[in-house]
Amino acid sequence: MKIYLIGYMGCGKSTLGRKLAQRLNLCFIDLDKYIEERNFRTIPAIFAEEGEDGFRQREKKALEEIADFENLVVATGGGAPCFFENIDLMNRTGVTLYLAPPVDILVERLLKSKNERPLIKGKSREELTRFIDENLQKRATFYEKASVIIRDKRNLEVDDVLPYLDKHQ
Ligand code: S3P
Repeated sequence: MKIYLIGYMGCGKSTLGRKLAQRLNLCFIDLDKYIEERNFRTIPAIFAEEGEDGFRQREKKALEEIADFENLVVATGGGAPCFFENIDLMNRTGVTLYLAPPVDILVERLLKSKNERPLIKGKSREELTRFIDENLQKRATFYEKASVIIRDKRNLEVDDVLPYLDKHQ
């Protein structure tokens, strides 16, 4: 069994993923952390040295490796499903869960952690809000290919998602 959590930066993939893995007795992998360990560099360093294209290549490769593992919950990076055939690979090899909280929650969370994320580093509240709105529109078609979509939940807990997963076993 493999569960992929997908969705925008700040939607809570890692927090929920860790709890879900614990509850289901599965391993947990954070795709960004996996990329950093495999490449001996932080995500901001990869962006700075190779640009977004270089990062997306490394992200694709990491996802292909993880797709071969079993019994895990994977928290993917916000852009992962939106490049190459990544979303199709995830749908073929596991259950994909799209977390789509209200945009205001994303803005609040990302304002606090934007400097760790190259795509939004240094943006003001207004710039960030506009960027998220536009970027989400572009990404929606990919995210919406998920097996399960959970919209507008502010603080998602494991018990909220288990019923959806049961239907997809
Ligand atoms: C990105 C999201 C980040 C990370 C990278 C690019 C994106 O992951 O992969 O900075 O394109 O949305 P999180 O969603 O974990 O912040």
